[in-house]
Amino acid sequence: MKYDIKNINLARKGKLRIEWAMNNMPVLNLIRKRFEKEKPLKNIRVSCCLHVTTETAGLMLTLKSAGAKIALCASNPLSTQDDVASSLVKDYGIPTFAIKGEDNKTYYKHILSALENKPEITMDDGADVVSTLHKKDYGFIPIGGTEETTTGVIRLRAMASDGVLQYPIIAVNDAQTKYMFDNRYGTGQSTIDGIIRATNKLIAGTNFVVCGYGWCGRGVAMRAKGMSANVIVCEVDPLRALEATMDGFRVMPLSKAAKIGDIFCTTTGDVSVIRKEHFLVMKDGAILSNSGHFNVEIDIPDLKKLSTKRRVIREFIEEFTLKNKKRIYVLGEGRLINLAAAEGHPAQVMDMSFANQAFSAEYIRKHHEDLDNEVYPVPKDIDDKIALLKLKSMSIGIDRLTERQKKYLSSWQEGT
Ligand code: ADE
Repeated sequence: MKYDIKNINLARKGKLRIEWAMNNMPVLNLIRKRFEKEKPLKNIRVSCCLHVTTETAGLMLTLKSAGAKIALCASNPLSTQDDVASSLVKDYGIPTFAIKGEDNKTYYKHILSALENKPEITMDDGADVVSTLHKKDYGFIPIGGTEETTTGVIRLRAMASDGVLQYPIIAVNDAQTKYMFDNRYGTGQSTIDGIIRATNKLIAGTNFVVCGYGWCGRGVAMRAKGMSANVIVCEVDPLRALEATMDGFRVMPLSKAAKIGDIFCTTTGDVSVIRKEHFLVMKDGAILSNSGHFNVEIDIPDLKKLSTKRRVIREFIEEFTLKNKKRIYVLGEGRLINLAAAEGHPAQVMDMSFANQAFSAEYIRKHHEDLDNEVYPVPKDIDDKIALLKLKSMSIGIDRLTERQKKYLSSWQEGT
């Protein structure tokens, strides 16, 4: 058997990899088959700004089978898988505007190209489409949109509370079948994968510092611990810090952790988390990575100012030599390392995230007239349905309450 797949053309490679991902997305495949018959998004224009991966291709094919007229652009300049973009255009006729490594200008130009579709529904990962649409009058307002990620939901809630949001958004991120699996197990595994692919370093025995103990931070810390790192968690929230402590991690301020960390990973969604005061006390050879949505968590402008020399030493690794002669290594330009150096979350979790996206698009189509310009949760019955379908796809059965148990739970009289 020859594994000379490297030499096949880009679109062919993408098509095969999309097939591989879709083999692992049983819930989305069920939805796709129903959409194929019912066409719930017939002629609805949908513009999507998502990481252009094999899993996203699965979602695009699902929306297409529903009859939607779609356009896709990248939600990050470094996360595009070029073979997937090529296959989406050539094999499936889906307009896709994304090139791995595109500069910021091209990134925003691509968002505008996706908006030429005049979307009735937008699908965002980080809220860049919504914020672009709110900067000027494009002559149309979508009937609704969805948001994939924590960072985007925070931005959109801020817009809604300022009263400026112009159309309703479903916060896909906040569905339990999304964040409990995608944010935790997806980010956990793919972030470690990205760090390993970029560095080929042994994780075991390192002091591995995780900044932020939300669902993503929990996942990264759990997986680093599983690879025998000494995991240190840095948090600002007392409850989360307490949880991290009782989960068995060392918790301390970053000012202390900075001095002893070998590998750092930010997962906070906030700006300038690792900054000048931390760079200055780091060990020679410290490795910095980010798994939050935007490349703002490691203060790279600060690091540049402190450095006397910079060079790329390996794909996805930039070496910064400080005036104190210590070297600090930044992975993937401080962009989300799981998508920059690896392939993002595995299909098994994106299956549920994108099932939420597909159901939410259908929900918007049916119910947009009843929605205000607010951020809404994914309806609970959709979340429950996805959990059940996922269990079923894994051949896992669960118990049901007996009539006596149901009665007991709904009654306040029967105590013993
Ligand atoms: N976000 C994280 N992982 C992803 C993936 N594999 N596809 C699309 N979006 C993602």
